[in-house]
Amino acid sequence: MADTGRRTPDSHSATAPGSSRRSFLRSVGVTGGAGALFATMGALGLAPTARAAAAPRFTAPARSDFTLTGRAAAKVVVLGGGIAGLTTAYELGKAGYDCTVLEARDFAGGRNTTIRGGSRITDLDGHTQTAAFSDGQYMNAGPARLAQWMVTLDYCRELGVPVEVFTNTNGSAYIYNEGAGMTAPQRYRTAKADVYGYVSELLAKATDQGALDKQLTADDKERLLAFLEDFGDLGAKADGYPYTGSARRGYSTDPGAAGTPGTVLGDVPTASEVFASQVGRTFTFEFEYDQAMLMFQPVGGMDRIPAAFVRAIGAHKVRTGCAVTSVSTTGSGVTVTYTAGGRERALTADFAVAALPPHLMARIPHNLGPDVQTALKAVTPSNAGKIGLEYRSRWWESADRIYGGITETDMDLDHIWYPSHGYHDRRGLLIGYYNTGAHANAYAALTPAERQARALAQGMKIHGAKYRDEFAAGFSIAWSRTPHLEGAWHSMQGGGPDAAVYAPLNRPAGRVYFAGDYLSYMDAWQHGAICSARKAVTALHQRVLSS
Ligand code: ALA
Repeated sequence: MADTGRRTPDSHSATAPGSSRRSFLRSVGVTGGAGALFATMGALGLAPTARAAAAPRFTAPARSDFTLTGRAAAKVVVLGGGIAGLTTAYELGKAGYDCTVLEARDFAGGRNTTIRGGSRITDLDGHTQTAAFSDGQYMNAGPARLAQWMVTLDYCRELGVPVEVFTNTNGSAYIYNEGAGMTAPQRYRTAKADVYGYVSELLAKATDQGALDKQLTADDKERLLAFLEDFGDLGAKADGYPYTGSARRGYSTDPGAAGTPGTVLGDVPTASEVFASQVGRTFTFEFEYDQAMLMFQPVGGMDRIPAAFVRAIGAHKVRTGCAVTSVSTTGSGVTVTYTAGGRERALTADFAVAALPPHLMARIPHNLGPDVQTALKAVTPSNAGKIGLEYRSRWWESADRIYGGITETDMDLDHIWYPSHGYHDRRGLLIGYYNTGAHANAYAALTPAERQARALAQGMKIHGAKYRDEFAAGFSIAWSRTPHLEGAWHSMQGGGPDAAVYAPLNRPAGRVYFAGDYLSYMDAWQHGAICSARKAVTALHQRVLSS
């Protein structure tokens, strides 16, 4: 994935303030208002800073919110049936809001698209692909993995979508950096043993020879050396803590019965060769908060999530094939026009939630003001692509001993993903490329047949002739060329959704609210779309309750 530079938010473990502190804070709050209260709390180290603000707790609107108030739930039109739009309709629906979702494509889910046998997409260049995948085989063309902390899993639980482990890193998968001079793929575990081994050796030598004496006490040095000996699987201090290879690299003959201790993989490269191969560049991926194992996926395909949302909302309320053509807010409501079946139609509601891709919303005539338009246009979509390759046999399991996980490359295919389900079935489907940026654009410019040929030729460099010979069917997606989406994720001018330019989207424009992953700190994740939708739902519901 693109390095978004995301880091784990600072954790706050402020001890509960005592009562005198609490009453002091309360009096500051009364006299100086919330701003002064927060500034004072910040000075005391108690307040969440803007950077580390705690997520507001989400309370779903409930029918009981209207009991005894004499108020009624409003009518809401939701523009876009992706995850943000579906979450909006689902949550508002809990309190009895009358929601209609207008979705331009002929199925809901947005980028959460699962391709199965018979799936058919015509792209903006006029290429039509109809997937010829066998029964039970599928490709998650968009989102494909969920971190354990993501709210998406709470919706899977609530909506009854079963999940299973998605293997994001696998020591048995390969690394192949052709551009860095590798002539053969190397197992991830072998690369890791060598990189950790040599880095540990160098640090151990430097520590032992006194290069870090300014930084470390004698006790620190002893403990660091003990750690490095183990971390790098190093030789003895007397020999200078050498890394000379390790069983962690793997075996050329696996250990077996008595008499067969196995043969540890030899031909240990030098430190210089290891650094030149750049195999270490992929390891930090597994440290990332959004990518660390264990990860999860819905059983049977990611689109089980939108399907469950649609069931819960009511299928009749999610109108597909309805492309929005204009949005007008008035003092008393919102009018949306759209085309359906070649005819122009109009729908009026009390409120709208615009959950369309921002760059597409910017093309739709609206009266939401120039600041909204400037904000929408400040979002630049970027591309990603994938190809699903179905095979007649699961040779990656039987021959290469790879059960799920990802092969990392410096070729323009970027990554090959092996399926984390259906182990030992007869057939299987892998992702032959998952690429972003310039690599995704290069594939997007090809026809589907050319993409497939290129993916197969590159994959053969890693897996040999079986990569071509066992191939059965392929289907590729280029998100930048996919109608009604035209992008995979977003570059946000000013760095993120809280940049000043986006303020007009973080509040309602008249009676129109905005939601989408781009308005979150988790762009290109369903978690981000859901969080943003919940924020819009909360604001809209509070307005209705206080009107
Ligand atoms: N959510 C996207 C991924 O996991 C960026 O690759």
